[in-house]
Amino acid sequence: MQQPIGIGLAGLGNVGAGVYKHLLANRNLLRERLGLDLEVRRIAVRDTARRAAEGFPAEILTPHWRDLVEDPSVQIVVEVMGRKEESLALILESIARKKVVVTANKALLAEHGREIFEAATQYGVPVFYEAAVGGGIPIIKALREALIGNHIVSIHGIINGTSNYILTRMQEAGLGFPEALAEAQSKGYAEPDPSFDVNGWDAAHKAVILASLAYGFWVPTDKIFVEGIEALTSADFRFARQLGYGIKLLGIIKAKSAEFGSEIEVRVHPTLVPEKHVLASVNGVFNAVAVHGNVVGETLFYGRGAGQDPTSSAILCDIAEAAEALVNPRRNLGFMPHGLYGSCKPLDEILCEYYLRLCVQDRPGVIAQIAGILADLHIGISSIFQPESEDEGSTVPLVMMIHTASHAQIGAALERISALDCVRKPTQMIRVEHFS
Ligand SMILES: NC(=O)c1ccc[n+]([C@@H]2O[C@H](COP(=O)([O-])OP(=O)(O)OC[C@H]3O[C@@H](n4cnc5c(N)ncnc54)[C@H](OP(=O)(O)O)[C@@H]3O)[C@@H](O)[C@H]2O)c1
Repeated sequence: MQQPIGIGLAGLGNVGAGVYKHLLANRNLLRERLGLDLEVRRIAVRDTARRAAEGFPAEILTPHWRDLVEDPSVQIVVEVMGRKEESLALILESIARKKVVVTANKALLAEHGREIFEAATQYGVPVFYEAAVGGGIPIIKALREALIGNHIVSIHGIINGTSNYILTRMQEAGLGFPEALAEAQSKGYAEPDPSFDVNGWDAAHKAVILASLAYGFWVPTDKIFVEGIEALTSADFRFARQLGYGIKLLGIIKAKSAEFGSEIEVRVHPTLVPEKHVLASVNGVFNAVAVHGNVVGETLFYGRGAGQDPTSSAILCDIAEAAEALVNPRRNLGFMPHGLYGSCKPLDEILCEYYLRLCVQDRPGVIAQIAGILADLHIGISSIFQPESEDEGSTVPLVMMIHTASHAQIGAALERISALDCVRKPTQMIRVEHFS
């Protein structure tokens, strides 16, 4: 047996403490399976005194993350500080010292993935990031290895557990968005500041990582469409159910064709999902990612997308892979830039079907006016329904399902519709996905 492989753990918060605990508990198991012994040699944390008092070994705690980089006995650096500048500096400096890096930092990868993997290529050092998407679900490894022989046709993912919990409660208990959010916060499923979970950007960071891995070029965050769940109402869930749909926040990644270098689209938004589709039954804090490969067909990955234990499980997998890479250097450094000429479809050209909920005056001729605008713009209506009005006033809801149209077309239609006298409130528009 060789000398133990030294690990430097940067961060001892929710994730870091879990990694430390499980690494100790499963050290023998990992040694038997890998033939390599793993030892935590240094831990960086801001408040070292508090952590020492909690029982973490004081002699390996340091408030300076750079101590991990400079310690020659640390061969693997696990970045779970969740910072921007400091985490980026830690990762780049570790790579330059030929230390293998493991990170769970999705926001950092989405914004600086290109830079990080250029450095990884320059120094020949792998970077692993299984915990950055889908918590305990091994979706990164699946895309990188198990599906390597497939062109990826599409990926549809429920990749933010907080928003999925909120949407589940709105659907099942009829709660409004503020009540469902307050409940998620009281149960510890949402942060005190839930902005990134509910505005779609946490899911967007993960979608960027999945898309980049699947298509081989770092997808710029300004080329993707992102919309959050804040504007959804309990009425939307009721009406969607009457039409045979649930509502989910989906990350959607599609290639124009299953050909190398094909244009792709990446978007994150609330989506009407047919009730019969398996993603409509993914509830609570669970995540699921459906990947369609041109060889394998449909696959589905399901599990807990966050939390200490699932995230630690993903990081243990990365640490094991990092240890093996130290012993047997590998060609795949975690991301292979194989689609350097890839490009994203302009947002205005993205095609969707739509659900529209309008609040209109209760008088004859209203539907004809709205249908006239849609017809002018060559937008087809697939169905119209007028649900029972809940308020006794002079307005009524009007729900329309719209055939495939581009973002630009539907945007122009909504602008004209909202200017009509008979339309009394902003129109709710939700995209529809049929998974054909
Ligand atoms: N939580 C999840 O379920 C989950 C799931 C997937 C991915 N992730 C990702 O995992 C990462 C960590 O998340 P977390 O929930 O564990 O965060 P957290 O609970 O806030 O922990 C952050 C840790 O980093 C330490 N730290 C921060 N800045 C530091 C610095 N400059 N120098 C030294 N130590 C520093 C903190 O020290 P103190 O304790 O002294 O403040 C703390 O121990 C994030 O990138 C997150 O996006 C989290």
